[in-house]
Amino acid sequence: MLCPWRTADLGLLLILTIFLVAEMEPHCIAQTDLKLLPGSSDPSTLASQSGRITASSSSNGDGKQIEQNSSMPLSEVNTSLSAVIDTSAVLHCPRTLTEVVLARWEIILRDKPLCTKAYRSDTNETKDTNCTDDRITWASSPSQNPDLHIAPVAITHDGNYRCMTVSPDGNFNHEYHLQVLVAPEASLFLSRNRAAVCRAVAGKPAAHISWTPEGGACVTEQERWGNGTVTVQSTCHWEGPDVTTVTCSVSHLTGNRSLFIELLPG
Ligand SMILES: *[C@@H]1O[C@H](CO)[C@@H](O)[C@H](O)[C@H]1NC(C)=O
Ligand SMILES: *[C@@H]1O[C@H](CO)[C@@H](O)[C@H](O)[C@H]1NC(C)=O
Ligand SMILES: *[C@@H]1O[C@H](CO)[C@@H](O)[C@H](O)[C@H]1NC(C)=O
Ligand SMILES: *[C@@H]1O[C@H](CO)[C@@H](O)[C@H](O)[C@H]1NC(C)=O
Repeated sequence: MLCPWRTADLGLLLILTIFLVAEMEPHCIAQTDLKLLPGSSDPSTLASQSGRITASSSSNGDGKQIEQNSSMPLSEVNTSLSAVIDTSAVLHCPRTLTEVVLARWEIILRDKPLCTKAYRSDTNETKDTNCTDDRITWASSPSQNPDLHIAPVAITHDGNYRCMTVSPDGNFNHEYHLQVLVAPEASLFLSRNRAAVCRAVAGKPAAHISWTPEGGACVTEQERWGNGTVTVQSTCHWEGPDVTTVTCSVSHLTGNRSLFIELLPG
């Protein structure tokens, strides 16, 4: 069976073959005899290394071996990203100067098998493996744009997203660490003995609570929920009658809030 990229540049061919081994065209590997140099152990990890590969192609008629050191120009970018729950997020694939031959997303979420979404331009084909979350899709037709779209964002979308693109000008990787944010519900109320209680319920990550005026005797507690959110509660007591109004500031990546309350006299 003929592989469509048979005549392509050998370096690119190898990269493509490696990319696609488990992905789409398992028989293609048989047509190119890959010999990995020591150190570049596993073809499936090759895409993430600036590995050197030696190719001996058995497909050129005279049986001559082609030795090629293709130090693949890999551009690696790592980005930390946050997205607020129930919004939508777009993760960009690296842009290449020439047309993308292959684009592949690897999505690693907690307690889920590795999900991959791949697109190859020669056949204009897409393929998903182990992807069960229909909130994660291609942002548009991947032939135009291989970006990833997540909508609506949920807590379970915390994780790592890696886009790999192959194009004639090289391989590009962009890895995102996505943190999903949940705004805490803030409240402030009075408790016994002129104590004030400030609560930031089910925020992700945990909110930070501070008080004005400072100098109260405070106890802060945290409670973690199974869904990854945290409730923070701070209870403060001020000695003396001169403190009449107190302000609780709840700081969070999704935005800050200030609440104030009057302390009861005596
Ligand atoms: C699909 O998930 C299984 C584990 O459930 C994993 O072993 C396998 O490698 C995954 N397939 C791909 C192509 O990622
Ligand atoms: C690729 O397929 C999509 C739909 O599957 C289509 O909209 C698009 O026009 C096709 N692109 C090319 C270049 O054939
Ligand atoms: C997380 O769990 C807590 C406690 O059960 C709940 O109050 C909160 O609404 C949950 N948050 C989300 C975003 O699911
Ligand atoms: C929220 O508060 C924190 C610390 O109190 C501060 O560093 C941050 O700049 C504030 N953010 C906004 C958006 O005001």
